[in-house]
Amino acid sequence: MTAAADPDREESLGACRRCPRLAAFRDATKRAHPSYACRPVPAFGSPDARIVIVGLAPGLHGANATGRPFTGDFAGILLYSTLHRLGLASQARSEHVADGLRLHDCRITNAVKCVPPDNRPLAAEIHNCRPYLAAELARQPPGGVIMALGRIAHEAVLRALGQPLAPYRFAHGARHVLAGRTLWDSYHCSRYNTQTRRLSEASFRAVFEAALGEGP
Ligand code: URA
Repeated sequence: MTAAADPDREESLGACRRCPRLAAFRDATKRAHPSYACRPVPAFGSPDARIVIVGLAPGLHGANATGRPFTGDFAGILLYSTLHRLGLASQARSEHVADGLRLHDCRITNAVKCVPPDNRPLAAEIHNCRPYLAAELARQPPGGVIMALGRIAHEAVLRALGQPLAPYRFAHGARHVLAGRTLWDSYHCSRYNTQTRRLSEASFRAVFEAALGEGP
């Protein structure tokens, strides 16, 4: 059983104010930056894509500003260039929603749809956002691949799918077989992980290549 996997949830996302701290932060950011979107950021890509990539949450001056996951964020530089190299994105760069970028059989979303202060969502906020993630995952066709970027995304995916955490430990490159689909883990492509060399371009790409090798 997934956590309230009601596809209508996806449609109601834009009006969500379920997390008072995040709603207040969005409002304050909108006052400071009127040109920013400052809304819950919906998934990008076709709902029936075979691959769903799950990040953490929109970045303050990136996805929160542009309204598209990883678009304008530092973390998006490595993500979109990798997707382009592997034929999953039509362009290597993603800076604006009107840039014409298309994803191929791939969808990108976040465990938490609203920008959190200091990039750190609270446990209650991850919990509140779970029905949206569950609804997105429920629309993925059977046999699909989920790529979790970081431990928080990994745990959010398991909870959204109604799975226990203990049998599925997060590790870079780990592959977990779940009912009807496969969950892959990667370190998050954040500035911190790339600048500290925890994550290289090659090791990020290698996880995607392994996941793509799963076949149709
Ligand atoms: N931008 C996103 O949309 N998600 C992340 O996890 C990081 C930056």
